[in-house]
Amino acid sequence: MLLKEYVEFTVSEFSEADLHYGHGTGTALDDAVYLIYVTLGLEFDQDFRESNRTLSESEISLLNQRVEQRVSERRPVAYIVGEAWFCGQPYTIDERALIPRSPIAELIQQRFAPLLQSTPGRILDLCCGSGCIGIACALEFEAAKVDLVDLSSKCLELAKINMRRHGTFDRVRAVRSDLFSNLSGQRYDLVVSNPPYVSEQEVDSLPEEFRHEPRMGLVSGEEGLAIPLKILRECQAHLHPDGVLILEVGYSEGALAERLPEVPFLWLEFAEGGEGVLAITAKDLERYRDHLI
Ligand SMILES: C[S@@+](CC[C@H](N)C(=O)[O-])C[C@H]1O[C@@H](n2cnc3c(N)ncnc32)[C@H](O)[C@@H]1O
Repeated sequence: MLLKEYVEFTVSEFSEADLHYGHGTGTALDDAVYLIYVTLGLEFDQDFRESNRTLSESEISLLNQRVEQRVSERRPVAYIVGEAWFCGQPYTIDERALIPRSPIAELIQQRFAPLLQSTPGRILDLCCGSGCIGIACALEFEAAKVDLVDLSSKCLELAKINMRRHGTFDRVRAVRSDLFSNLSGQRYDLVVSNPPYVSEQEVDSLPEEFRHEPRMGLVSGEEGLAIPLKILRECQAHLHPDGVLILEVGYSEGALAERLPEVPFLWLEFAEGGEGVLAITAKDLERYRDHLI
């Protein structure tokens, strides 16, 4: 069988199964190419339509197993192949952590312009999961020291694998902490966070693919805002006076804006898709402190 024939076959299997895409890909074709290319170790810039590569029996057998897993278990491709891309770099991923897909990637690639007044020397990735946001920041800001924080020690194990993979062990450290609780005295120029922001009710109505992800990575209290609000309340004490917080709250954006109408959140726009990410300065966190309580 030719590679292009196998891609067509997989797309039709995925389409028929009516899968959910949203863990790094957006269509059946993207999902199929992701699964097949990573399994075969192919470079993504090779166009399967122009390739005459034939698949061996063992390749087909492994691919069939993986396609079957994707369809029958609704397991996202990143977990099946153990790899996810973030800011153009590969990250090791498994069920210990959420699959990287935050639109914050676009901000990192733009070096957070024009949100920062100067190059950040100390960065905190709060609720780091696989470590993708903080490690990508460390790769973008080559002199920065970065702390990765998560409450889950399983996430931190994975984050350490990714720190090593990207050669950032000397500048990045992994800290187990319930939000800021183990970071007393630490101040940062930039705090970036993609915390859990899904409500208890919503999480059970999400497509099956999400059930493969750790619930702790998704759920944040009854309304979804419990953890984001705690971060907004506590962050100022951990920022330098010119520091900035970048916080993702996804589709809880409306609920947060409604709850805190006075607070001047800057809701960011993304060319590559995504929403629900705000920026707020340390000064405004201080100024609006009473509203956040
Ligand atoms: C939405 S996931 C994001 C992971 C990663 N930042 C990303 O973008 O892929 C949220 C993470 O927050 C962690 N978390 C949940 N509650 C926490 C808490 N109280 N303190 C620190 N981390 C927490 C979860 O373990 C999970 O890894």
